[in-house]
Amino acid sequence: MASQLLATKSIAELHQQESTGNQLRRALTATQLTLLGIGGSIGTGIFVLTGVAAATNAGPALPLSFIVAGLGCTFAGLCYAEFAAMIPVSGSAYSYSYATLGEGVAWFIGWNLILEYLFAVATVSVGWSGYAISFLEQVHIHVPAALSNAPFDRGADALHLVRTGAIINVPAMLIVGVIATICYIGIKQSAVFNSVIVTIKVTVIVLFILFGVSYINTANWHPFVPPNEGRFGAFGWSGVMAASGVIFFAYIGFDAISTAAQESKNPQRDMPIGILASLVVCTILYVIVAAVLTGMVSYKELNVAAPVALALDKYPGLHWLGIPVKLGAMAGMTSVMLVMTIAQARIFFAMARDGLLPPWFGNVHPRFRTPSTGTVVTGLAAALIGGLFPVNLLGHLVSIGTLAAFVTVCIGVLVLRHTRPDLPRPFRAPAPWFTCIAGAVVCGAMMFSLGTDTWWRLAIWTVFGGIVYIAYGYKHSCVRKAANGAAGAPHTA
Ligand code: ALA
Repeated sequence: MASQLLATKSIAELHQQESTGNQLRRALTATQLTLLGIGGSIGTGIFVLTGVAAATNAGPALPLSFIVAGLGCTFAGLCYAEFAAMIPVSGSAYSYSYATLGEGVAWFIGWNLILEYLFAVATVSVGWSGYAISFLEQVHIHVPAALSNAPFDRGADALHLVRTGAIINVPAMLIVGVIATICYIGIKQSAVFNSVIVTIKVTVIVLFILFGVSYINTANWHPFVPPNEGRFGAFGWSGVMAASGVIFFAYIGFDAISTAAQESKNPQRDMPIGILASLVVCTILYVIVAAVLTGMVSYKELNVAAPVALALDKYPGLHWLGIPVKLGAMAGMTSVMLVMTIAQARIFFAMARDGLLPPWFGNVHPRFRTPSTGTVVTGLAAALIGGLFPVNLLGHLVSIGTLAAFVTVCIGVLVLRHTRPDLPRPFRAPAPWFTCIAGAVVCGAMMFSLGTDTWWRLAIWTVFGGIVYIAYGYKHSCVRKAANGAAGAPHTA
């Protein structure tokens, strides 16, 4: 077993798998990849979690938290870019780690990527539902609370949930169904849809900044770092760090670009451009939004479901912006779900191709050429999770799973520089000792700031993954079959 956990797939084999069997359509350009990254990023993090992070952790210092999280993502993004250009195959960090760190780590990463993408679809659907309900109320359509909220919320500790009295979050489930249908039909249509929505949401954010800036009251920025309230994460510098773990969720998505390598026209050149460009755009927008928001409204008032809308409602001169911003936020979250659904289906595709999940997870639709079964599974699971759980519980879990994948990628790049210096690297992360270690340290620090309960949930998820691996993946691994001389070539689903 130990030797199989360390077994790696050869990069040549990964490339060969990409060029044989079921081919996904190569349709995406650098610009579309960048839009995919932005589409995957700007959503619930900036529109929902910013408020709670300012009100309970960082206060006006929230822009610093965005800078910390942005730095961590930049370092990790450079590592992702090196990997993605060198191994431009579907499966993202999962495939990279399979080629470098062995099947055990690859499984751990793949399992955490499921936590990232699948659970992010669910998380964002809950945020979308909140904005949709608020919008519908504004146009005098009332949806009963019992049908628009989660029936469960976090309890006293990681293992307990409490009943809220609601039945199920119907809007969250419906939006997941719509998104999964679009993804099922095809990547080309999805990319066009995504580009339109990205334009809308970036416009809405820019309007918020341009009109909000003249309503800033600089008194709201004092004290810039409110004094700590006696426990880790409640303001002070530990609060800045804790907030960076919470709003890290806002950055999740840029890495989804790397899962679309197989559908990129020129992955070697375009993947690094897409990853880094989308990260830079998002960081700039987030830091400015955080500064404007905490300048317009005292951070103490921001612990609400729609903090950006709250800031606009506060000033009569800005009321007209309220409806476009709510619609823009909904559009933003829609494109996040779109990117995440595409990414998750491709992770399933890669893991099934390697024999670690049943082959039907990797089925490609004969006409649409999309990973159809993976898309259906993602849609059904995300709709169920989004229908049952609240945004805060899901968001923390998504962040910690993603950060675990980031830390592993940073370490993986450094390991590979030493074990395989010969491999052609169309893109090289600059100053690898610094970049990789700084990425692992900053992302690791954000993980620690997320709290014990979230760590417990990560542990439970990991144990569950280990059971699935032992029960299925270990026995059906193509690497194992090839090593045993059984069945010969790796199967494509
Ligand atoms: N970054 C994405 C969001 O904030 C997941 O919605």
